[in-house]
Amino acid sequence: MAILVTGGAGFIGSHTCVELLNAKEEIVVVDNYDNSLPEALDRVRQITGRDFRQYQCDIRDREGLCRIFQDNDIDTVIHFAGLKAVGESCEVPLKYYDNNMIGTIILLEVMKDFGVKRMVFSSSATVYGDNIVPYVETLSTGNVTNPYGRTKYFIECILKDIYGADHNWSIALLRYFNPIGAHESGLIGENPNGIPSNLMPYVAQVAVGKLKELVVFGDDYSTADGTGVRDYIHVTDLAIGHVKAVDYVRNHRCLEAINLGSGRGYSVLEVIHAFEKVCGKKIHYRVGPRRPGDLPIIYADAKKAERLLGFKTTRDLDKMCKDTWNWQSKNPNGYEQEKK
Ligand code: NAD
Ligand code: UD1
Repeated sequence: MAILVTGGAGFIGSHTCVELLNAKEEIVVVDNYDNSLPEALDRVRQITGRDFRQYQCDIRDREGLCRIFQDNDIDTVIHFAGLKAVGESCEVPLKYYDNNMIGTIILLEVMKDFGVKRMVFSSSATVYGDNIVPYVETLSTGNVTNPYGRTKYFIECILKDIYGADHNWSIALLRYFNPIGAHESGLIGENPNGIPSNLMPYVAQVAVGKLKELVVFGDDYSTADGTGVRDYIHVTDLAIGHVKAVDYVRNHRCLEAINLGSGRGYSVLEVIHAFEKVCGKKIHYRVGPRRPGDLPIIYADAKKAERLLGFKTTRDLDKMCKDTWNWQSKNPNGYEQEKK
């Protein structure tokens, strides 16, 4: 039995492949490398000493997907493949609806044709919109402000409907908070295209000298130091959460939305100071205006993941910064460095 990992060459996918292989699972990876490089998968092999099949295929390519299901004994799908840039999704919404929604629908149809009815889906805390903290799974969802977030919400709706119609499906909707960090080997990590829009990769590139200074988006929020608070989760903890979610969907017939977060928040300034401590350098920053759409405080109620999956994060902010710095300083140009 093998687990099909869509988008397995990406940031979270590659770290999850490592943890699945470490847990002795068989995996098959499908990725179109739209936002990743096959190099990441070679490094997964290097870290784990294990081999697996990988296919360059778009999940909207129905025939391509069918061949993968024909050639492999797949029993569960972890579905990471998708576009994730919030700003871009506002500029070219159709690209996001096409890739994320149509891609997922075709994948689900092929799964159904092959009788594969277990899925672990990459959702996001963004589905909660502007809500009461901590975000708990029973809160309302759908009050989302951008097309990217809406694709996550709509896919959650589709999966709920599929389960409603056929209780033989087993589906985990994993709502990630803010994944950061890198594998502790420094061999795989986040490899953003162009100038990063998220905090941690931006801080790391300032530390390594690729970017001049960070702009802190507002210091007048009603938080302890005035800067935005988020629930950061180490990508290895997140990956382990997926291994546990696969176990869960294999052993239950269910549809469950589950938060994957640490349950505590850190401010932008706390992140900057933790990173400075780890890299031994000053992170140059200035305070700018708030970023439109940003909320002051987001953190998870993490109890359901603990109750259902036995999952709890173990890697703290220092570890997240340490592993990010290790990856960034060893690979200042990400995976591209290898190509030169
Ligand atoms: P990523 O861009 O690094 O990985 C996504 C992978 O999917 C890439 O390798 C990309 O090439 C591949 N892909 C995209 N469209 C595809 C298609 N049509 N066919 C085949 N492959 C395709 O992103 P990530 O940070 O690893 O995120 C993984 C998933 O988790 C995404 O669905 C994302 O929306 C979701 N998510 C991410 C975050 C985050 O902060 N990183 C937060 C919440 C949810
Ligand atoms: C952002 C997306 C969210 C998506 C998530 C994926 C927006 C509005 N939200 O979340 O939908 O699911 O990424 O990881 O784009 N910050 C700075 N300076 C920077 C960058 C960020 O001060 O250059 C601050 C932000 O204001 C925020 C915190 O750092 O308070 C974290 O920001 P970020 O890493 O972009 O994540 P989110 O905004 O939580």
